[in-house]
Amino acid sequence: MAGRADGARLPGPLQIEETMTGTAAAPVPLLIDTDPGVDDALALLMAFNDPAHRVVGLSIAAGNVGLAHTVRNALKLCEVAGRDDIPVFPGCAGPLVHPCEDAAEVHGADGFGDIGYAPAEREASSEHAALAILRLSHEHAGRLLLVALGPLTNLALALRLDPTLPARVARLVVMGGAVTGHGNLSAAAEFNVGFDPEAAKVVFEAFERIELADWEATLAHGLHHDRVLEWLDADSPRARFYREISERTREWSVDRRGDHWHSADALAMALALQPDGVLESVRRPLRVETEGRHARGATVVDWRGPEGEGVDIMLGYDQDRFESLVRAALAAG
Ligand code: RIB
Ligand code: CA
Repeated sequence: MAGRADGARLPGPLQIEETMTGTAAAPVPLLIDTDPGVDDALALLMAFNDPAHRVVGLSIAAGNVGLAHTVRNALKLCEVAGRDDIPVFPGCAGPLVHPCEDAAEVHGADGFGDIGYAPAEREASSEHAALAILRLSHEHAGRLLLVALGPLTNLALALRLDPTLPARVARLVVMGGAVTGHGNLSAAAEFNVGFDPEAAKVVFEAFERIELADWEATLAHGLHHDRVLEWLDADSPRARFYREISERTREWSVDRRGDHWHSADALAMALALQPDGVLESVRRPLRVETEGRHARGATVVDWRGPEGEGVDIMLGYDQDRFESLVRAALAAG
């Protein structure tokens, strides 16, 4: 990120310290908290396909659909991708305080397009997601890349158990929020934050630095349906499985959002895996609203500043780079 003499941060590429980038020889340990969910699945395939990152675990949240489904979907995706080496840690079965509607309308009742897949052979770990997050933060202290693609319930619980967690996390990338109030769960709230605003408040107040890919950035980086269909034609088990599980949500999207499909978690994963693809970002204070009939779950950004404080909000990502990461993830053998 370019900076001014007074230290204020100007819009520009995100600056990530050298130690935070990996190589095939020394991959960055990557822990993903996720509520699979069709767009989560695409993000996971991108992570599985990056030799510079080693996925050390999937901590599973309830969100898009209930926890039993999100756990089952994570196990199945690992099996399809030949990644049964990745442990799957079930997390909290609901938000910290208030219940919330799921997103089955978008993802299908089972979260994976209701295709009736045969369950994975493997069982999930018996370790709770919050405890796994803490344990892995110690095992990979100072290098861990933590990516949150669902409601932040597990991460908030981990923080309540051990408030020193942020000191051991090299980077936290969050898919969530709507930085100028264009929500998808409600007029003001994006789903991951709106599903559990109390958890989001805990997380955003605990981490000094968060890299954010919000819903509005997602809408600005749509994937043309025709191009997605080409990528899904790849001769690979991953592409074939993904074509099946995504059919329902892609059709849902055509009916409601026109000729581009929006994959929020995939964009957040591009930010996480290749931050040098960020074309523009700004840093501003951000607060999560937990009260209010109309604004609960809103991510209220103070655009007045002070600049250089708060959350790193990604405003623009290299679209070609993003699409090549998605295409390669689907084509991977
Ligand atoms: O608002 C989009 C987010 O909500 C994505 O993470 C999607 O998977 C849902 O969880
Ligand atoms: Ca998600």
